[in-house]
Amino acid sequence: AAGRCMLAIETSCDETSVAILNDGRTVRANVIASQIPVHQKYGGVVPEIASRKHMENIVDVVDAALVEAGVTWDEVTSVAVTQGPGLVGALLVGVAYAKGVALARKLPLVPVHHIEGHIYANFLAEPDLTFPLLCLVVSGGHTHLIELTGHGVMRIIGATRDDAAGEAFDKVARALQLPYPGGPQIEQLARSGAEDAYELPRAWLENSLDFSFSGLKSAVLNTLHRSRQRGETIDAAGLAASFQAAVADVLVGKTCQAAREAKIDTVLLAGGVAANSYLRTRLTTALAAEGRRLVTPPLVLCTDNAAMIGCAGYYRLLRGITAQADLNAIANLPL
Ligand code: KG4
Ligand code: ZN
Repeated sequence: AAGRCMLAIETSCDETSVAILNDGRTVRANVIASQIPVHQKYGGVVPEIASRKHMENIVDVVDAALVEAGVTWDEVTSVAVTQGPGLVGALLVGVAYAKGVALARKLPLVPVHHIEGHIYANFLAEPDLTFPLLCLVVSGGHTHLIELTGHGVMRIIGATRDDAAGEAFDKVARALQLPYPGGPQIEQLARSGAEDAYELPRAWLENSLDFSFSGLKSAVLNTLHRSRQRGETIDAAGLAASFQAAVADVLVGKTCQAAREAKIDTVLLAGGVAANSYLRTRLTTALAAEGRRLVTPPLVLCTDNAAMIGCAGYYRLLRGITAQADLNAIANLPL
């Protein structure tokens, strides 16, 4: 009964999001107030501005979610909030608000790990998923291969040693003078380019499921630099397509290898880069060729949102995980 009507809050980066869920599965509202236009002129998220904007927005976003769901405060039975990882000043706004509500209304408070939230977006897409599962998490701050053998039972079997996949997309986009966030811009530009326009490296890191994208990023930056020095015109669409293909080759190759080795038939995709349709198609095809299936959340549940936090929070509450009034935001919270 505790998870009957959950209010979920996500403020780890640049979206202020509040969701209302019934029993962790039915999303009655998922309001996302994006700060992207505010940060765009700086070419990336400015932490100080992000926390101020969360402060300004949080009350209105909660109200909007309650109205959209048609739920009154008296019907809310629990509160879930992203505890970390993320920008600490941004996280604190959500954590402080959630603690206030939980304390005032005597509700259970559920702390949620942001990455666990991303993974659980898949349970909103497909509530009847059965374990074991393998999840490729690709966001702006994380690139992980995670084996799940039960709710909350996770083992990281591969991780990036330097840049996250989304970070590489954002840095390459910036070098191509595209606005923040770069991922969707690169995807769009790549549609009109040839994947073999430029020869770019792929870091396979033999005998490991780890990733590395900094070499690829540097290769793109060097290519741009050299072309500009020589006064050559840059085939930006070709460079975007070649870069995207190089990222996808490694993500797809390692995910298939991990699924084979762990003998897991159902693979999940999560995080902002999961919104990339080129990656979704490549991964679906490659897994299907080996008799495996890819599950993907709908696009709005790939990038940061509170519905995924509510879903993960619901399963945490079922396991009895709650926090007290001393809950603190943790910028580098381990999974
Ligand atoms: O999960 P998310 O919203 O925030 C983090 O937890 O980091 O992910 C944001 C990241 C950004 O790096 C953004 O460029 C990337 O996801 N992204 C994409 C696409 N949409 C968002 N990357 C590639 N293709 C996309 N369509
Ligand atoms: Zn995220």
